[in-house]
Amino acid sequence: MKPPIHLEDRESLGARIVSPTAARNCEPIADVIAPLIVPGRRVLEIASGTGQQAAAVTARLKTVHWQTSDPDADSRASLQTYAEEFPGKIAPPLNLDVTKPDWTARLSSRYDYMMCANMIHIAPVEALLGLADGAGKILPESGAVFLYGPFLFGENSAQSNLDFSDRLKARDARWGVRESDFVKHIFAKSGFTGCKQVDMPAENHILIFSRS
Ligand SMILES: C[S@@+](CC[C@H](N)C(=O)[O-])C[C@H]1O[C@@H](n2cnc3c(N)ncnc32)[C@H](O)[C@@H]1O
Repeated sequence: MKPPIHLEDRESLGARIVSPTAARNCEPIADVIAPLIVPGRRVLEIASGTGQQAAAVTARLKTVHWQTSDPDADSRASLQTYAEEFPGKIAPPLNLDVTKPDWTARLSSRYDYMMCANMIHIAPVEALLGLADGAGKILPESGAVFLYGPFLFGENSAQSNLDFSDRLKARDARWGVRESDFVKHIFAKSGFTGCKQVDMPAENHILIFSRS
């Protein structure tokens, strides 16, 4: 049996998978991210999962090239249904695993933005390191990374996220909610010294990384 890649029960509608968590967070995520994307630009989404966030953000944009990706085959089958429904906006998914060395070498296009939701706490820390390293390699000077999920804030961490982190570590000792200062440090090492923090529902945040 393959190891779990998500935490909640999901429903399937043919190949399309529906996550109740993504159903709750996709519109708030779109509220924040869609206005920041310059029309016509190219977005690389890492760990796209079911595709619900890609669909919600792109629905708000007249023109965008949104490249989904996921190393999980079932997720890619779900993502493919959105590529077929919204051709020209959502591209067929790529099989990208950001822990693989040189994962960006497989990309044939340039991208202006990267987005990643709910991945770095449900993966070994190497996934965060690979994500930041790849962003540093492929994004232009004006590029930005949108990173959504729960984060810890030292003594000011939400108790619910501390408890969540303990539950994650009990499942897999390499998982866990990351300290925001650590995440910012890792992105700064890849050249993303700017970080804007947006509060989101249910003690989540979006960290928006830029090079200035
Ligand atoms: C909890 S799901 C989140 C999916 C979606 N972004 C969301 O918020 O609903 C975590 C996703 O991370 C993906 N993932 C795990 N490790 C990864 C890695 N090393 N590189 C890229 N994606 C990874 C999994 O396949 C899974 O689809």
